[in-house]
Amino acid sequence: MSPSINSQEVSVFAPATIANLSCGYDVLGLAIDGPGDRVVLRHTPDSKTKGLSITQITGDEGKLTLDPFKNTAGVSALSVLKSLGAEEESFEMEIHKQMPFGSGLGSSAASAVAGAFAVNALFGEPLSKVDLIEHAMAGEALASGAFHADNVAPCILGNITLIHSNSPLEVLEIESPKNFYLSVVYPHLEILTKEARNLVPKMLPVAKATQQAAHLGGLIAGLYSGDFNLIGKCLEDQIAEPNRKDLITGFDEAQDVALNIGAVGFGISGSGPSVYAISEGKQTAEQVTQCIAEVFEACDLKCETFTSGVNPNGATILSRR
Ligand code: HSE
Repeated sequence: MSPSINSQEVSVFAPATIANLSCGYDVLGLAIDGPGDRVVLRHTPDSKTKGLSITQITGDEGKLTLDPFKNTAGVSALSVLKSLGAEEESFEMEIHKQMPFGSGLGSSAASAVAGAFAVNALFGEPLSKVDLIEHAMAGEALASGAFHADNVAPCILGNITLIHSNSPLEVLEIESPKNFYLSVVYPHLEILTKEARNLVPKMLPVAKATQQAAHLGGLIAGLYSGDFNLIGKCLEDQIAEPNRKDLITGFDEAQDVALNIGAVGFGISGSGPSVYAISEGKQTAEQVTQCIAEVFEACDLKCETFTSGVNPNGATILSRR
């Protein structure tokens, strides 16, 4: 028997994320505790329009389409509706973007996750969060031009996630150590993920591949043991950052300042332009955030900043009726 609609309206939240975490290109990510997207989904059985309609998008400066087949939240929602055999029912969706757009903080993943998660919530959660990852990836692929789950997985599950197998999709969830704080700074530059991906080399010399593998292994060990010294030593990237950092004005100086002030590591968030730093303790993280922002502001770049821990919950239901 196919699952039935369990609520008339749900409101859900999906958090912003940091993908890659330097040494985990396309496989590692974490959920930020703070910004994110909210999606409201309504069952509208009396509507003459069949299928999914997107009725409102806020916080996108008019950049996103209301066409559900071309919108990341729409595509992921339609993917779940299809798997539940419910594409012919009528639904209305509102998307409220409450995080910077085009920032490298997983904005498209947050919308994609919120779309898929909202449908599942409306049907009384017949699918698990892990089941929803592939549906959300379909929406995310529309925006990034690639099929990877390093934003989607932490967005939906929370915590720090490692995609240790793409096919079949298998995800390891790692809790952040005590006192693990993030500084996130979004300098107002435009970087398109599709273009940033073109800068990443197709082949890697063995010496760089082994170094990357060693750092990823060390980082995971450091996260489990809470060894900030080891975490910091392993937050280095051989694949994307060396080829992308020149897109971010002030990157090298921001990195020097962050590390001198007390951050253990610093890197690009996803494909940028946002950067992130990791510190032990909130007070250090706050100082690091401030100093990174000052570097970008000195380059005449406006910034948005966040200092937070890791979001342990991922996507959540805010209300249901
Ligand atoms: N892993 C991806 C990249 C994240 O760095 O291109 C952005 O979607």
